[in-house]
Amino acid sequence: MKWLSVTTLALIAPSHALIRFPCAQLVVDRLDPLVNPGLVPSPHLHQIVGGNSFNATMDPAKDMPGESTCTTCQFSEDFSNYWTAVLYFKAKNGTYKRVPQMANSGFDGVNAGQTVYYMQDGLYNFQQTSKVTAFQPGFRMYIGNVAARSREEVERFRQLTYTCLQDINTRDPQIVDFPSEPCPMGIMTALRFPTCWDGKNLDSADHMAHMAYPESGTFETGGPCPASHPVRMSQLFYEVNWDTREFNNKEDWPEDGSQPFVWSFGDSTGYGNHADYVFGWKDDALQRALDSPCYINCPTLATQDTAAMNACSKSRVVTDDDIDNWVETLPGGAVAGM
Ligand SMILES: *[C@@H]1O[C@H](CO)[C@@H](O)[C@H](O)[C@H]1NC(C)=O
Ligand SMILES: *[C@@H]1O[C@H](CO)[C@@H](O)[C@H](O)[C@H]1NC(C)=O
Repeated sequence: MKWLSVTTLALIAPSHALIRFPCAQLVVDRLDPLVNPGLVPSPHLHQIVGGNSFNATMDPAKDMPGESTCTTCQFSEDFSNYWTAVLYFKAKNGTYKRVPQMANSGFDGVNAGQTVYYMQDGLYNFQQTSKVTAFQPGFRMYIGNVAARSREEVERFRQLTYTCLQDINTRDPQIVDFPSEPCPMGIMTALRFPTCWDGKNLDSADHMAHMAYPESGTFETGGPCPASHPVRMSQLFYEVNWDTREFNNKEDWPEDGSQPFVWSFGDSTGYGNHADYVFGWKDDALQRALDSPCYINCPTLATQDTAAMNACSKSRVVTDDDIDNWVETLPGGAVAGM
C-alpha cells in the first residue's frame, strides 16, 4: 500500500488494522489458572471472559474449544480466556464495593465483560504491511506486576493504562495511575501485551519471559523485534470499562484528596494493573482472521449475537466471597494501600 497517499490510507486504514470484539462476562471468581494453577481460592478476585471450560486448573494440553460448550465472545470460534483483576470503591467508612463493568462503545447490550483486540498492524502506522503471527494452542501469557506501587515499576510494562471517560468514546489521555478526579462515564483500563515471541516457548516461569517488547519504538510504529524474540505477533489488547458512576460524588471521596478506587489485590496506586491470557481459538481461526483485513466484520470468522454471548456463563467455584454488597474486607483479605 506504499503507493497510496497518507490521507487515503488514513481513511482506509481502520479496515485493515485490527480485530475488535466484545466478550460478555463469563464469571467473576477467585481463580487464576495461569499464576496460581490449582489454587482454590486464588489470592484475589478476577473478572473473566471467554470459553466456559475456564477453571482453577487448565492444563496446557487441554483442548479448550473441545471442552467448552460456549463462549462469551462475539467470535464464536474463540474459546480463549481473558481476565484481569477487579476494581473496588473504598468508602469513607472503610467498607468496599465492587465496581460493575459496562459495555464498551458500539457494544450496547453486552453484559459487562471486556473488549478484546488483536492488532494486525499499528493503528497509526499506515505503512506497516508485514503480517503478524497468531498464538498457538497451549500459549499463555501475563503482563504486569501485582506488587508494583511506583511509576518506575509500571513503566517497564509500557502499555498498562487508565482513561478517565468523559463520554464512552474518550480514549486520551492514557495515564498509568488511577484518575485523580471522578470520571463521568467511568474508568477504562487498557492493557496491551508485548508483541515479540521467542518462537519456542508457549509459556515461561513468570509467564512473561517468552515475550518481549519491540527493541525500539512500539508495535504501533512498526518497531523491530529483538533477536532473542524474533517472531512478530499480533498485539493482544484489552479494554475494560468500569462503571464508576454510582461512586462519583466527591462528597464520598477521601478528605485528604486521594482517589477512592482500589484493585482487588489492595493496590490504591493503580500501578499493579495486570492481565492474563490463555489462548483457545478453534483450529486456525485466529491466523485466518489475522491474514485477512477485518474491522468488526471479519468475513472469515463465525459470529454469534449478543443474546448468545450473554447466555454463556459459568457458576462461581469460590462461593463464600460476597462480591455484590458492601464488604468489610476485600475477598482474600488484601488491604487497600499504597
Ligand atoms: C473445575 O475443577 C473442579 C475441581 O477443582 C472440578 O470439580 C470441576 O468439575 C471442574 N469444572 C469444569 C467445568 O471443568
Ligand atoms: C459505608 O458507606 C457506604 C457508602 O456511603 C454505605 O453505603 C454503607 O452502608 C456504609 N457501611 C456502614 C457499615 O456504615
